[in-house]
Parts: sequence; structure tokens; C-alpha cells
Amino acid sequence: MKISIIGIGYVGLTTGVAFAFLGYEVICMDKDEEKINNLNKGIVPIYEPGLEEMLNKVKNNIIFTTDIEYAIKKSDVIFICVGTPSREDGSIDMSYFKEAISEIAKVINGYKVIVNKSTVPVGTADWVKEEIKKCFKGEFSVVSNPEFLREGSALKDFLEPDRIVIGIEDEKAKEIMTEIYSKINSPKVITDIRSAEMIKYTANAFLAMKISFINEIANICEKVGADVKEVAKGIGLDKRIGPYFLNAGIGYGGSCFPKDIDGLLTIANTHNYDFKLLKAVTEVNEYQQERFVKKIINILERENGDTVAIWGLAFKPNTDDVRKSPALKIIKRLIEKGCKINAYDPKAIENAKKELQLLGDRYIQNIHFIADPYEVVKEADVLALVTEWSEFLNIDMRKVKDLMRKPYFFDGRNLFDPKEMKKIGFNYEGIGRKY
Ligand code: UGA
Repeated sequence: MKISIIGIGYVGLTTGVAFAFLGYEVICMDKDEEKINNLNKGIVPIYEPGLEEMLNKVKNNIIFTTDIEYAIKKSDVIFICVGTPSREDGSIDMSYFKEAISEIAKVINGYKVIVNKSTVPVGTADWVKEEIKKCFKGEFSVVSNPEFLREGSALKDFLEPDRIVIGIEDEKAKEIMTEIYSKINSPKVITDIRSAEMIKYTANAFLAMKISFINEIANICEKVGADVKEVAKGIGLDKRIGPYFLNAGIGYGGSCFPKDIDGLLTIANTHNYDFKLLKAVTEVNEYQQERFVKKIINILERENGDTVAIWGLAFKPNTDDVRKSPALKIIKRLIEKGCKINAYDPKAIENAKKELQLLGDRYIQNIHFIADPYEVVKEADVLALVTEWSEFLNIDMRKVKDLMRKPYFFDGRNLFDPKEMKKIGFNYEGIGRKY
């Protein structure tokens, strides 16, 4: 069975490499020539643990091309993995997806299973069927197979998922999809297409809701003198709640949660449904970052300081991705309030530079990117940790304290132990912690 992947971003590349690892012949297609040239040389354009190593192991099973006609004609199953970003107004930009479908419709030459992995509005599969039928009179199947992998652990999430969701309407495609995933030992949820499309949005919205919920609990913990880590442990052991996604902090970011929440709100609006709870999830997330900035500004005003050292730029650890990163939002707000920023991240400095350049001169002129976690804190009035890279735990915090002008440490991800930080002499503040 030959597989083609259309769109080689995080999801597409991981899917392609993982299927090649499972022994399938895979054709990966993307319009970006530079990306394809690099991949043909074994160079992975993103930082994702294990991906480059695995690609180099499975090189013989995988072809990278910009030729969509070749990819479609030579394959039995086509996975569409193109991006579906948010527009300014929060609605879903389907232009890459529509382009892929119109290309498929033009060149499809026999029975194929067209599998949608991109996150798309409920009902899209029906539209795909209609579009292809306009050009192709033969038999084909459309399937929805949402992806739940996380950046930073993408390969593991693909090969050892909690479940595989397959939305399907005919027996032939069901057999093929079951066979494709037969080598992965995990529960398979075989369902109708619309439910599969809805499962993807629901999963991301629910996880984001957990984060906003624990963040509000953390804010109350600060007021009543409780510790949110203890509270999360205490509720997380209840199997109905579960221990995951209860880390309080400065909120969620990334290319998925913000986009999919806006997407689900748009879907609800389109169907005249006011999804109150989900609106609150976004509001709480924004407030969490604003609240963090306010705390830093209060200290700087009190101490007549203006220099903030930032540890972390990526939207979460183990990735170089800064899309919708809380770190960048916080930096932007601090600069608008007149702060000078020194920033360090183990992997994401280059991407952060590009993103801040887009925001304008004012931002790029007030930030220094420094590729050393000690250098970055020199003469700082405040240290703000915004991404919980585990390497920060190996840093000599006494040295950090001595290098700073003032020992204020705001830990936006609750990475450190408050008692230890106090012992070293920091004025330490986490999110919802007891001291
Ligand atoms: C998320 C989902 O977890 C994946 O299942 C899904 O496939 C993916 O979106 C997608 O739709 O493509 P991802 O965005 O890579 O994956 O990262 P997560 O690990 O979910 O983290 C998202 C954000 O939530 C990060 O900013 C992280 O710092 C934050 N977070 C996570 C918290 O603030 N607290 C937590 O307890 C957990």
C-alpha cells in the first residue's frame, strides 16, 4: 500500500516519517521547494526530538517531492495535512486545504482513500466529496482521521497514541484504514465522519478549558493561601478528573489551542450557538498573561528598574516553535510598558527574532537575544521564566541571583521550589504557590 502526504508541516512530516518507519512506501509532497530540497538531504526544517534521526533511518521508504500529480497518482491513500490557520477575525482559513482538494480532483486517476488530517470545520468531508465528484466520476472514499500529536513528543504520540479516531462511511475505506493502523496497538474509535471532525475540536477545547480552570484556581489559591500544585495533585488522583493538563502558569499558546478554540467558536456562531464556556476559556488565558505582566511592572515601578530577563521563548519546552507563544505576548506588553528585555531560549531565539521583527522596530530595538542563560540575567531587575525547559533546573541559581541587580524571580511555569528559591535569597513568586 502506497501512502502520500500532502503538506509537510509538523503533522505531515511526523505522519510521513512514522508511516515509513512502520514499513510503508511514503511520498511526501509540499509546495515549498527549499523545504523539500532540505528534506531530500535529510535535513528536518523544524526542531522535533528524534524526527531527523528516524528520517535518516527510513530514507529508503520515503520520497520528498513538490510534484502533487506524482504524489496523488502513485498512491492508494492520500493524507491531507496542510495548515488551516486562523484569520484575523478568528475564522478558519481553508485556502491551503481547498487548493489541495482542487489539485486532487484534477489528477485523481482511480480508487483512492482521501484522508483528512488537517483540522477543518465539521461538514468539510461532505464538501470534499462534492468537489471531487465534479471532476472525477470514478470511485473514491473520504475519511476524517484527526491528529492528536503534540509538538515536542510528536513521534511518540503518533506511534503510541491514546486512541486513533477514524471517521468513515464505507466498508472499503474502513478495511484500508484499519490495515494501515494495524501495526499501532491502541484503541481505535471508528465513527461517522462528522463526529470524528468534532472530536478533534472537542479534545483541544477541553484541554484548554482544563488549563484555564486550573489557572483561575491558582489565582484564588494566591488569595486564600493555598498551593495550586497541592490542589492539582489532590483533584488529579480522582480518575474522573485525571492528573494531566493541570499545570497552572501563564496560559496556553501554540499553533493549535488558540486556533482551534477560535475555530470551534466560529462553528458554534455559524450555527447560532453562544458557546459561553469556551469564550471564558480564551478570556482567562489572556488575563493570565496580563496579570503576570502587571506583577512585574509593579515591582519595576517600586524598585525604579526597567530590565527584565526572560527565560524561554518557545510556546512550550522541547520545540523551537514560537507561534502564539505566551512568552512573546508577555515580551510585547512589557516593551509597551517601557521595559528593556534580555531573552534566552535553548532553541527558539531565531524564530522569536523573526516574529518580533514583524511586530515592528520598537520591539526589536528593545530586546537583546542572548544565547546564554547566565549572561541574560546580568544586571536584570527581574527574572521571568516563561517556558519550562528542564535545563533551567540544572542552572546554578545562586550564581544567577548574584548576577542580577535585584533578586526578583517570577516563575510563570512553577518550575522551581519556592522554599529553595527563598533560601537562596530570591524574592520568588510562582503562580498560585504557597511560600
Ligand atoms: C495540542 C494537543 O495537546 C495535541 O493533542 C493536538 O494534536 C495539537 O494541539 C494539535 O491540535 O495539533 P500542542 O499545541 O503541541 O498540542 O501542545 P500542548 O502540549 O497541548 O500544549 C499547548 C499549550 O498549553 C502550551 O503553551 C503549554 O505550555 C500549555 N499547557 C499545557 C499549560 O499551560 N498547562 C498544562 O497543564 C498543559
